[in-house]
Amino acid sequence: MTTKYLTQSDEDIKIGAELLRNGGTVIFPTETVYGLGANALDSSAADKIFAAKGRPSDNPLIVHIAKEEDLTDLVNDVPHSAKLLADKFWPGPLTLIFKKSDKIPYAVTGGLDTVAVRMPKQKTALRLIELAGVPVAAPSANISGKPSPTAFEHVKADMDGRVDAVIDGGACEVGVESTVLDVSGDIPILYRPGRITAEEIEEVIGRVELCTQAKANEAPKSPGLKYKHYAPNAEVQILHGSFEQVERYAKKQTAQRKTGMLVFDEFPKISDDIITYSLGRNKNAEDAAHYLFDGLRSLDLQGAEVILAPEIPQSGIWRAVRNRLYRAAGENIVDLTSVLPKSILMVCTGNTCRSPMAEGVLKKTAEGMDIKVSSAGLAASAGAPPSTNAVLAAAEKGVDISAHRARQLTADLTESFDLIVTMTASHKQMILAAMPDIKDKVVTLGEWSGAGGDVRDPFGGDLDCYRRCLEQIDMLVSKAWEKYR
Ligand code: TXA
Ligand code: MG
Repeated sequence: MTTKYLTQSDEDIKIGAELLRNGGTVIFPTETVYGLGANALDSSAADKIFAAKGRPSDNPLIVHIAKEEDLTDLVNDVPHSAKLLADKFWPGPLTLIFKKSDKIPYAVTGGLDTVAVRMPKQKTALRLIELAGVPVAAPSANISGKPSPTAFEHVKADMDGRVDAVIDGGACEVGVESTVLDVSGDIPILYRPGRITAEEIEEVIGRVELCTQAKANEAPKSPGLKYKHYAPNAEVQILHGSFEQVERYAKKQTAQRKTGMLVFDEFPKISDDIITYSLGRNKNAEDAAHYLFDGLRSLDLQGAEVILAPEIPQSGIWRAVRNRLYRAAGENIVDLTSVLPKSILMVCTGNTCRSPMAEGVLKKTAEGMDIKVSSAGLAASAGAPPSTNAVLAAAEKGVDISAHRARQLTADLTESFDLIVTMTASHKQMILAAMPDIKDKVVTLGEWSGAGGDVRDPFGGDLDCYRRCLEQIDMLVSKAWEKYR
């Protein structure tokens, strides 16, 4: 279809309203993000929204109204708390969930018996709904899974040819979607943090429950919680660490791949090679909310393969920014604070198979770094050479352990290493039974890597058995190493 582009003039808004009344789709600006609207009382019009966005049909839409009185027809019951909130925050970026009336088709609510309603503040949005004369169902006007559109260019990039018309309203003021609060049950539940904060809502109606993340193995109460959201094409990583740690990591990244960075105005420049986008002033959550989606989209457009982002606080309006950014990152938080140990001792039983292989792999991984790496066994026969298959499997990986000779783990030896890495949990238990006071520096390889599990003894097995063991060690060591990047 050919999309008609409209301005915010009253004449153009009338054209949009006419399209909505006739079952068409119109994208319009709101104070939060652009919405992709259709008549909320017409299920085939609502179907067009899901098709245009590629949105899963069980993810319900928000119904937009122009006057508080319009609510009466759409819902079964307006609880007292909802009345108080609507009086205080409507028109504005607060969506309330009610028990729905028969007028609202299930296509709009994704099959639920509840309906989400909000009265936007943006003038064009209000005028459009008023002139359409029907409530307007409108999710954010992005392709499903992408960052919500907060500028006309974002809408055009995602939706050209997919809707009947778009009204160009410039940049959206708030920049993140409305707060979603369920008032249909006994306890109000906040599903999506937004510009209207939990703290502000609690001032009006008392305690609200926060439920902004889907729990594993449980159907979420708000279907939107279970879907991937706000994700640009680039991988997004949240960096946890000091400025120096972030700087070091960002420089390494930019040497490997095209790196984008979300920063604040006050952030010192790290490198000309990094494409930076500022979320505004450092301590200003409103700025960050306003710029966030534009930042993700803009870094994508400039070809960033990875987007490095700062940690975000968890209160007030920041909560909305954090919720969107961390979901865009798929909760991918990189901890840069781990301090690299200066000396590491790999430990197994006989010090002829696993620990010599682990020592060899780690030495190769840490090549060129000033780190002492060695190995020992809990029941070693001193001076024994490594098993033939261990030597062969290691050699295939370019690791030479042929000169290794077994040695017994002693208290003195444990003294002289910063970190002791055992192959299994029972090795660790045996060490701690004898030397409980060194518990802070003993870990299993599984624990050290974060992946968990024991490295089982290949002793007596064929070459393939040793190869698999080495594969596992290699994987765990490189996972463990990621902490120190
Ligand atoms: O700011 C906004 O709210 C924007 C503008 C256009 O108004 N709209 C928006 O809609 O963000 P959308 O569809 O992208 O997000 C609606 C969210 C989804 O997470 C959905 O799961 C939840 O609200 N929702 C809608 N109806 C619901 C219901 N009956 N029960 C629980 N959650 C519901
Ligand atoms: Mg959305």
